[in-house]
Amino acid sequence: MSSSSPVAATIVIFGGAGDLARRKLVPALFDLHRFGHLARETVIVGNGRSVEDDAAWRASMKAAVAEFGHDTPLDEAAWEAFSTRLFFHRGDLKAAHDLVEMKARLEALEKERGLPGSRLYYLAIPPSAIAPLVVNLGAAGLVHPVETPGPWSRIVVEKPFGHDLASARALNDEIHGVFRERQVFRIDHYLGKETTQNVLVFRLGNGIFEPLWNRRYVDHVQITVAESIGVEGRGRFFEETGILRDIVQNHVLQLLCQVAMEPPVAFEPNAVRDEKVKVLRSIRPQTPEEVLRDTVRGQYGAGSIDGQPVPGYRQEPNVSPASLRETYAAWKVQIDNWRWAGVPFYLRAGKRMPKRVTEIAITFKTPPIALFRKTGVLTQEPNVLILRIQPDEGIALRFGAKQPGPTMKVDTVKMDFRYADAFAGKTHDAYERLLLDALHGDSTLFARRDEVEAAWEHVTNVLDVWRGNPPSDLPNYECGTWGPEAAMELMARDGRRWRRP
Ligand code: BG6
Repeated sequence: MSSSSPVAATIVIFGGAGDLARRKLVPALFDLHRFGHLARETVIVGNGRSVEDDAAWRASMKAAVAEFGHDTPLDEAAWEAFSTRLFFHRGDLKAAHDLVEMKARLEALEKERGLPGSRLYYLAIPPSAIAPLVVNLGAAGLVHPVETPGPWSRIVVEKPFGHDLASARALNDEIHGVFRERQVFRIDHYLGKETTQNVLVFRLGNGIFEPLWNRRYVDHVQITVAESIGVEGRGRFFEETGILRDIVQNHVLQLLCQVAMEPPVAFEPNAVRDEKVKVLRSIRPQTPEEVLRDTVRGQYGAGSIDGQPVPGYRQEPNVSPASLRETYAAWKVQIDNWRWAGVPFYLRAGKRMPKRVTEIAITFKTPPIALFRKTGVLTQEPNVLILRIQPDEGIALRFGAKQPGPTMKVDTVKMDFRYADAFAGKTHDAYERLLLDALHGDSTLFARRDEVEAAWEHVTNVLDVWRGNPPSDLPNYECGTWGPEAAMELMARDGRRWRRP
């Protein structure tokens, strides 16, 4: 969390009455307020069509913070103070004149509160609404040019950032028609997670791991983003999206970058992002045959989670009964660079898995000689380093140890570091960190244009091949299982298997 003093600014949330504002943004802002990270003058202005006025928004945000916030029970006094920062401007972001009206309201509020007019526009709106809003922001004079000194204007853009490479490029062009790159904060909340940030600290803030972090010592890497939830009422969204776009294009590839990137020359925005782009550009392009060989699509059928029966994807609301949309994806990628040549990275993401777990597992090569062979120890389990992103955040190292006793028997044991044990106290939500960074103008943990486009390039290649080769076996995994058989075969072909976290 940034240690510099709070920045006085106006935060505007487009989509102020929506799910993201309720579940994440306003609870995170409330926490920033409670912990003294918001400047005294700072105001938060919601925009949307479904809320009447300030009072109605405050009431609904109070309910949201009580339900989704970290502070239970809600600290009434803190809420009272925080709620005086909240305002709602009812209007249609696609209507240019509504934004002109909004500008007058913002200016009046800023004058009243002694704010300089610096503004953070948070776009918690559907992808199709982004480009029209950006154009209207520019036309209404709501964007201060970076060249002129004085107040700043920045936008935070939520994922999905585009639908494929072409639409991501088009969206970037539209945004750049109004904003400069350094004003654009493309958010991926996985980058705000403490444990994601810790991957670089672990690798580069310690002396002993980095020398092993390469093809000489690493056999392969597995990255898993498993969720036990299904599509949670987002059937319509998922029908258009699928897990490759929803989770792999952004969260999983960002985790891949954290593990695979070279040390940046400095821990500053462009240096870090330069290295991530290099990783994405080093991913080996795949031919259609390779895509079909090295990817697996899955879709969940009815099953049970924690002993409770749950419906299949095709039975979810707003999902076609014949849907071919994937709720699981596995993907073997190769990174063709000096460090990683020949080390496969196996990526997987799935809904309705047996449990919620995100982890990066690095499997090391086995020793060159089975020294204890003569004593009956024929095979040695490889060392595995597991970076647990969530839940149960921590890091574990599996290694062989001699079982106590007169004979030579080797067992696999584990050294385990748990965040909860080492650092007591509040854990910060990813959105808190990212909102604060955006207020401070620090884009290290946000995706740059070329990064997003490089990720889309590979994902679009897979999507194109998939579109031309519709699957015939969906649904192919039951809720509460670790995915389709084909994903196990993908690993078995290489003489490996997925971890069961
Ligand atoms: C979102 C996806 O980006 O991330 C959701 O749209 C997914 O489908 C969510 O459930 C997972 O986030 P987290 O922080 O709970 O792992």
